[in-house]
Amino acid sequence: MEKSSGYLPPRKGIKRVKTIQFTLFLLAVLFYTLTVLHLTPGPPDDFKSRPQSDRFEKGTKPTLIRNATIWTGLDDGNEVIQGDILLDKGLIKKVGTVDEAILRSYADLVILDAAGSWVSPGVVDLHSHLGVASSPSLSGASDGNSHNGLVQPWLRSLDGLNTHDDAYRLSISGGVTTANVLPGSANAIGGQAFVIKLRPTAERSSSAMLLEPPFSLNGTHVDPFQRPRWRQMKHACGENPSRRYAGTRMDTQWAFREGYNTARKIKEKQDAYCAKALAGQWSGLGDFPEDLQWEALVDVLRGRVKVQNHCYEGVDFDGIVRLTNEFKFSIAAFHHARHPPAIAMFATHARYKREASRGSEFAPHILADNGLDVVMKSDHPVLNSRHLIYEAQQAHYFGLAPNLALASVTSTPARIMGQDHRIGHIVEGFDADIVIWDSHPLALGATPKQVFIDGIAQLDKPYTSVKPESAQQVPVTPNFDKEILDTIKYEGLPPLEPEGVDSNLVVFWNVGSIFLKNAATGSISEVFTSAVEDGVLVFEDGRVVCSGSLAACPDALSYSDALYLDLEGGSITPALVSYGSTLGLTHIAGEASTNDGPVFDPLSVTVPPIIDGTVIKAADGLLFASRDALLAYRSGVTSAITAPTSGGFLAGLSTVFNPGAAHKLVDGAVIQEVAALHVTLSLSLGISVSTQIAALRGLLLGEGEGDVAKRFGNVVAGKIPLVVHAESTDIIASLLVLKKEVEAAKGNSIRLTLAGATEAHLLAKEIGQAGVGVLIEQRPYPSRWERKRLLPGPPLTQFNAIATLVAHNVTVGIMVADSSQARNTRFDMAWAKLDSNGALTRSKAMELVSSNVETLLGVVESNSDLVATRGGSDFEGKTIAIISSRQGKVFEFFV
Ligand SMILES: *[C@@H]1O[C@H](CO)[C@@H](O)[C@H](O)[C@H]1NC(C)=O
Ligand SMILES: *[C@@H]1O[C@H](CO)[C@@H](O)[C@H](O)[C@H]1NC(C)=O
Ligand SMILES: *[C@@H]1O[C@H](CO)[C@@H](O)[C@H](O)[C@H]1NC(C)=O
Repeated sequence: MEKSSGYLPPRKGIKRVKTIQFTLFLLAVLFYTLTVLHLTPGPPDDFKSRPQSDRFEKGTKPTLIRNATIWTGLDDGNEVIQGDILLDKGLIKKVGTVDEAILRSYADLVILDAAGSWVSPGVVDLHSHLGVASSPSLSGASDGNSHNGLVQPWLRSLDGLNTHDDAYRLSISGGVTTANVLPGSANAIGGQAFVIKLRPTAERSSSAMLLEPPFSLNGTHVDPFQRPRWRQMKHACGENPSRRYAGTRMDTQWAFREGYNTARKIKEKQDAYCAKALAGQWSGLGDFPEDLQWEALVDVLRGRVKVQNHCYEGVDFDGIVRLTNEFKFSIAAFHHARHPPAIAMFATHARYKREASRGSEFAPHILADNGLDVVMKSDHPVLNSRHLIYEAQQAHYFGLAPNLALASVTSTPARIMGQDHRIGHIVEGFDADIVIWDSHPLALGATPKQVFIDGIAQLDKPYTSVKPESAQQVPVTPNFDKEILDTIKYEGLPPLEPEGVDSNLVVFWNVGSIFLKNAATGSISEVFTSAVEDGVLVFEDGRVVCSGSLAACPDALSYSDALYLDLEGGSITPALVSYGSTLGLTHIAGEASTNDGPVFDPLSVTVPPIIDGTVIKAADGLLFASRDALLAYRSGVTSAITAPTSGGFLAGLSTVFNPGAAHKLVDGAVIQEVAALHVTLSLSLGISVSTQIAALRGLLLGEGEGDVAKRFGNVVAGKIPLVVHAESTDIIASLLVLKKEVEAAKGNSIRLTLAGATEAHLLAKEIGQAGVGVLIEQRPYPSRWERKRLLPGPPLTQFNAIATLVAHNVTVGIMVADSSQARNTRFDMAWAKLDSNGALTRSKAMELVSSNVETLLGVVESNSDLVATRGGSDFEGKTIAIISSRQGKVFEFFV
């Protein structure tokens, strides 16, 4: 069948005829054709009165959600209704009070009591690669980027949309109902994007997942007089296309211009054709000018495509703005950006490449303040879209107004993708995409209790954690006025170096709770708590001299020469310890010249003789004052443990350092030169796991030489821990067997710590019995095959891996994989507690990010610093000072 252009009637067979009537008819058709070419996309006029969704699945029962606290998305995201929601035929039929008569008319109504829970529209992800960049990552399903040219508007993400991907179920469990699936950013014009709903369909096809695909998609006859549907197109500028095509920004920009010029010429020919036809100049008119390769870009010029533009920096925005002026089209949203039209971005994921190095957590607030639409996006799998709501939560924490923060992952992206006539709001006649939350959706750890897509409940047997009553309100976020002003003043790079206060007498008052760590055992306990928040802590001449109630420190409020810091009911807690990322060895991960770089891996390369046999020490490569390290410090992380960077088997010796230090020679910058010995066992090393285990066995049994022999000797002697980065249950099991074997041979017990350990929960009992500790991420993701059997936690499973391991007496520490996330350790800790269903107290959760990490990594002297947080816990508090006994100083931040 001839491929229709999509927006024009078939012309083959139309012959010039002489009869007056027919000419008039023809003129009418052409008049319409001209009009049709200028029809703007959108729903038909009677869309609002549709009785049933085009996505309705037969057999879906009508559902009444009773007694919900409904964030509708209306009134600029400020409207909240207490009431019921009736879902039927894939649509929201009624919101608020539902007439009993209507309810009685349903024989098979499912009734769900929300008991006052928060309900929001389904989460909408404007920028995702779900289904095209596979999870787990497999080369056979890597369909996100074509590498066949810089400009390929003819490619379609739909053609690579895999229906089997572990991420769909996980993302739905986080409340995501709709995603705009974009081609990757390796090309200037990567191709057409498609909006999908994430639920499984009866047809099981990729096409069946689409939300309002262009009419022309399946090649059937298209009604030319109907308004077309919005199309989506991916553009990218900056580093990614440059890197992929070994080019420059100049090459990319020229590729754009050349492509648009081709489209412009076709469009002009089409317009001239129509003009002629309209004027009755039939002779020699020929066929309507069109080109299948360029029709989508012609549609961009006709204003029928939402252009989603991956773009970071001023230089690139300027280039794209010039392009849009030259060729007269517009951009729907800049993604990742810190500048206009709508902006889609991450909350705190930054500094992974140069063009992201000015990224600021305050950008959502600043952009909204300047009248720009803010969208938070996942770029899934860059961030796991399951936690897209966390991006909105962080944006809110860092100053974005709550109505805009919720809109940033619901109604705003729905509008930017041209679908806000049916998704992104809880309004009668809209698609029945609804999330019932276990807390306010902007509260940390908010988790769906149920998710509806097209009126179909997506969670079979959802598990819910009991959340504190306080989590039912919008978190009261801290004041960041000074930080925001500085961010603007310094164009994203405000100074972050901590400065010690001058006074040698500092009093923290209005303290709500104090937690202290027992230096000998590492156990943390709440030593003071008061509902009236009248606690104090006195720091004099470099040490804490008194803390607790005012009765315990009677003079605390009457010093004349003290610096008084009001915590407004906040807390004083042990400092946090970070492990897992390259913190301290990198500035900008994607820029080799800003990083310490990788070590030679003795299993995969020939190590140069000059260094062969030496185990590398991370301490020798420490790079201080990176923004990630300083931000971590300001967030209460006052020690970090980092192993040498390695893509292979033997990384080397980790070190313990102070992320707030200016350089290595500052007192206390290096806290412990050597912590643990680090090895990786993985299916992804390009060498068999059996080979890796054989190598490890040999080294542990004393087959190494020189420095290698000495370091592994230390492990066997129990002097330092062996940290093995291993994800899969099978590798972990082999490792436990090896541990026994070596211990039997050497008669000594090894201190073994597993890091990564995504599948460790399947061996929780055995790991517990073996006395092995585990360092694990708070939120697992099946990025690789060896992480596939993760334990997702609520709402999919009752417990997550952390709670399961803790229940088996395993010493657990939380690690982060990305250095820009070290700053969020406090959130990881609070989230672990919220997710544990009561298994973790606040003190136990603190141990997961302090003493446990130290124990597992062989830190000899436990971090004795304290962190002062102003305001409540989780998303209400702000770290305002580090009370450092280690350095004998208090460091305060923008008090
Ligand atoms: C709604 O739920 C809340 C919380 O469970 C309850 O206090 C209230 O009485 C309920 N309202 C109705 C109308 O059922
Ligand atoms: C093709 O698309 C049209 C318009 O959306 C639709 O009516 C028709 O059912 C589709 N045909 C197939 C085979 O999917
Ligand atoms: C964990 O330790 C506690 C206290 O020592 C003990 O009672 C419990 O049986 C242990 N649990 C497991 C699963 O080993």
